[in-house]
Amino acid sequence: MNDGSSFGNLADTLRDELYRYSPGEKLPSSRVLVDRFGVSPVTVSRALAALAAEGLVVTRPGAGAYRARSSATGPRTVDTSWQQVALTVEEQHGEPAPRVVDASGVTTSLAVPPPGVIAFNGGYLHSSLQPGQALGAALARAARRPGAWDMPPLEGLTALRAWFAREAGGPGGTLGPANVLVTAGGQAALTTALRALAPPGSPVLVESPTYPGAMAVARAAGLRPVPVPVDEDGVRPDLLADAFAATGARVFFCQPLFQNPTGAVLAADRRRRITEIARAAGAFLIEDDFARRLGHGAEPPPPLVADDPYGTVVHVTSLTKPTSPSLRVGALVARGPVMERLRAIQVVDSFFVPRPLQEATLELVGAPAWPRHLRAVSAGLRERRDAMSAALHRELPGLMAEVHVPIGGYQLWLRLPDGTDESALAAASLRAGTAVAPGRPYFAAEAPAPYVRLSFADTSGTEEIAEGVRRFAAACAETGVDTA
Ligand SMILES: Cc1ncc(COP(=O)(O)O)c(C=O)c1O
Repeated sequence: MNDGSSFGNLADTLRDELYRYSPGEKLPSSRVLVDRFGVSPVTVSRALAALAAEGLVVTRPGAGAYRARSSATGPRTVDTSWQQVALTVEEQHGEPAPRVVDASGVTTSLAVPPPGVIAFNGGYLHSSLQPGQALGAALARAARRPGAWDMPPLEGLTALRAWFAREAGGPGGTLGPANVLVTAGGQAALTTALRALAPPGSPVLVESPTYPGAMAVARAAGLRPVPVPVDEDGVRPDLLADAFAATGARVFFCQPLFQNPTGAVLAADRRRRITEIARAAGAFLIEDDFARRLGHGAEPPPPLVADDPYGTVVHVTSLTKPTSPSLRVGALVARGPVMERLRAIQVVDSFFVPRPLQEATLELVGAPAWPRHLRAVSAGLRERRDAMSAALHRELPGLMAEVHVPIGGYQLWLRLPDGTDESALAAASLRAGTAVAPGRPYFAAEAPAPYVRLSFADTSGTEEIAEGVRRFAAACAETGVDTA
């Protein structure tokens, strides 16, 4: 990559000219290059070093620089086929089968769209909504704390665990630091929880639709996600009870608040019921509370873990969503002996969360700017949600007929007309300049209908949203989606 420096310019020129030399042939000497390009010897040697780093040139001290032997003899053609065999495991029935780890469920929302493309597929706040200054200040203060680089307690800093306990327990709650394990964000917490609670090969109940990243974790841990339908009030308790009875599952993964992707909030009369159904089945309920700090205004109901004296609920929380994907600090909150299992799995897998990041988190959430930031996120998301639903009503009224406009979170979940080819629509939308997430990966089994998820978190504001929806509408027209 050329950053405009003189050695960068020279490296570009030499790169373009390399075809003139045969593989292995000596390039002109440094002195010749100095004269020819009118640059200093240092510039020449830095340019050659850059090309050497790219594998295009080989430099031999005292002998000069050579065009690298053709990449045909380089690492790209080395025969790595043996790995296909090595990566294949013997299944129980004696049949060899590839053990695939499918990351597509998470990479769609982690992908950085090409320049000029509007990111309606993003899962994190746009930089303009992130607390950049407060994060910088927190990190600087954290670095000055005594022992900032010492090993932290394996479960996390006590003060940070106490903060997470207060957040999860609600006012006057009964949770304390002993109920908390600090994790490297929500994804790591989900991995730890699913691996701790369900043995490989066992079923895990998941809402349908649900966050594909949770299903990806489950499958990578050898678990079988089993879908339980969600409606506008969250998971359906009758079907949850049926699913426990049919599968014997010991784990149910759910998002009671601003569910990803539907945005649903579990209705008040279902909150106690679903915890009781899980308890009656002798199962754990993993409560992924990822969006608690992304409400659009109204006070959300407390986490399920706050009202669960029996230890049924294993609560997952994370600070990445209201801050930055790089503040990878979250927590698992639970009661009872399960804490020991969670701690053991995490310490075996990854030891602990880096102390400087934990110290910075404490600085951040303790600063006066924190509540102000959360209010700004709430207002920013509300404004974006309104802009997106207004633009969709304008451009694609037919798709908005049944849409639930969420009161928290960062996405709209649109049902598409039967027969719509979601992948073709997403591809056409990307060509038109707006990245969207097709609905299929959100379902553990067959999808009942085609869907698309449009996220507004990673947008710069209302104008970009209006333009993004226009492009998406053009893609709907191109692929013949009936949107009237
Ligand atoms: C529902 C849900 N849970 C958990 C995560 C994981 O997020 P993180 O690891 O950044 O906390 C995501 C990310 O998109 C999510 O959508």
